Amino acid sequence: MNKIGKRPIAVLDSGLGGVSVLRHLMHELPNEDYIYFGDTANVPYGSKTSEDICDITVKNIEMLLAEYSVKAVVIACNTATGAAAATCRAKFDGIPIIGIEPAVKPAVTQSGKENPTVLVMATPLTLSQEKFTSLAQKYNPNASIIPLPCDGLASLIEAGAPESDIRALLKKLFSSVEGTDIDSIVLGCTHYPLIEDMIAEIFPDARIFDGGLGTALQTRRRLSELGLLSDSSEKGKITVINSAGDHSFAERAMKHI
Ligand code: DGL
Repeated sequence: MNKIGKRPIAVLDSGLGGVSVLRHLMHELPNEDYIYFGDTANVPYGSKTSEDICDITVKNIEMLLAEYSVKAVVIACNTATGAAAATCRAKFDGIPIIGIEPAVKPAVTQSGKENPTVLVMATPLTLSQEKFTSLAQKYNPNASIIPLPCDGLASLIEAGAPESDIRALLKKLFSSVEGTDIDSIVLGCTHYPLIEDMIAEIFPDARIFDGGLGTALQTRRRLSELGLLSDSSEKGKITVINSAGDHSFAERAMKHI
């Protein structure tokens, strides 16, 4: 392995959500070191403009490269992937940048139904982007894809709001699909797997999908192709940082791992 392989992998999100991806990364690539960056000064991403999220993500990656010499970047945020991954790949040529997108494909193909009804929960910005529209169109003839913008949900999860508040918002959000038979649910925002149990309770017959595992596997593939996997035989170390100087953030993040 060359020296670069020893460097850490950056995992970034607007806040705690990316931890739902980090836990898959730690399972698939346990001997890597990780810098987990929660951009809590800018959370929530999902109600900002695509241009703002692109600028913010470029700056965050510049910082992670300059201050932590990371060897790869995992954008563990569906919103930032949609808004910024293409720009970042062009700008940071030579650094593998792995993103996450709503897991529509497995939700359609592994639903167990021929023409499934698939509910896609994500931030308003993710669902309004061209990247999502074309993803949904790809599967639309074989499936009925229902996009559900979940404004405010990531913020409640981020704030550690009481379960009753989260359940009340879910009830309101799901009112538009009341009476619809849902076969699959896509958790298209990395914050939502942190409340998967609550969603599963409301839809006991639906299968639930998220892109965390796929992203971890893709990261392993990319690093392997580039000869950048760590050759350490010891468990890697995790450093948690955030942009708002919030001292409790690391502890809150580690609780979800
Ligand atoms: N966790 C992020 C995602 O996957 C966004 C949450 C936010 O709105 O900040 O889309």
